[in-house]
Amino acid sequence: MKYIAIVTGASSGIGREFVYAIDQSMNGIDEIWIVARRKERLEEISGKLKHHARIVCGDLSNRNTVNRISQLLNADKYKIRFLINAAGYGVLGDFEKGDRKEESGMCDLNIRALTELTHVCLPFMGKNSRIINLASSASFVPQPSFAVYAASKSYVLSFSRALNAELKDRQIYVTAVCPGPVKTEFFDVAEKYGTRTLSLKKFAMTTPSVVVKEALKDSFAKKEVSVPTTMMKLFRIMCKIVPHRIIIAMTSSLYK
Ligand SMILES: NC(=O)c1ccc[n+]([C@@H]2O[C@H](COP(=O)([O-])OP(=O)(O)OC[C@H]3O[C@@H](n4cnc5c(N)ncnc54)[C@H](OP(=O)(O)O)[C@@H]3O)[C@@H](O)[C@H]2O)c1
Repeated sequence: MKYIAIVTGASSGIGREFVYAIDQSMNGIDEIWIVARRKERLEEISGKLKHHARIVCGDLSNRNTVNRISQLLNADKYKIRFLINAAGYGVLGDFEKGDRKEESGMCDLNIRALTELTHVCLPFMGKNSRIINLASSASFVPQPSFAVYAASKSYVLSFSRALNAELKDRQIYVTAVCPGPVKTEFFDVAEKYGTRTLSLKKFAMTTPSVVVKEALKDSFAKKEVSVPTTMMKLFRIMCKIVPHRIIIAMTSSLYK
């Protein structure tokens, strides 16, 4: 039996940080499967790991990549200790003016691929294994000019919490991670059409290492939601108290 961790979005940012953290601190894992499109990045990361890495290079918004992972899992005796669903992207801008393919692409990657990969992996998971899904603080309230992204992350949050409850009897624990802005390549994609993230939001910027440390701590504490910084914890509370129509009105005027 081989014990493995699977990390998507492993070539950059938060996913890559998870790979390094698991590599450094997790004994009892034989292999880390690192999934993303950029092969040279994955090779570079793999060369830095103590653990054996299996590179799975592919576009997760294409069903074939998840099918390939399913075939690999069925080809040997594997137990998945960690599934980290970190692959995801967002593009800022008004929905109507946006690129239709890019908008549905966010749904394909952030929602469909995460759901299908989780489904494929679950039969290979047992007692005390962990699923960590990258949602976002954008999941707390609808976000004008980030409409599809925020909605996709609301899905991730809702799905993760429900799945965590469903899997309690199997002692598999699911944590949705909800950071605010994190210093990664995410913004190279998000701001590609020139729409800038609110400077107020960027003021709250944290690092992948803070997010990952907190996420692993919360996952081991069997928490269903991990919110890494005080500012985002306060934002979450605000989103529970203040009517969403008021927050939406405030944020939509800031982007005009
Ligand atoms: N940074 C933030 O402010 C922030 C805040 C809250 C939540 N998040 C969430 O955290 C997660 C990680 O984001 P990040 O900040 O680390 O961004 P990032 O540095 O841009 O990393 C995104 C990762 O996703 C992979 N990816 C993108 N499209 C893919 C596709 N079609 N198929 C397979 N892999 C794909 C990328 O690899 P390749 O390009 O090599 O495929 C990369 O490894 C995302 O789900 C994001 O929504 C980010």
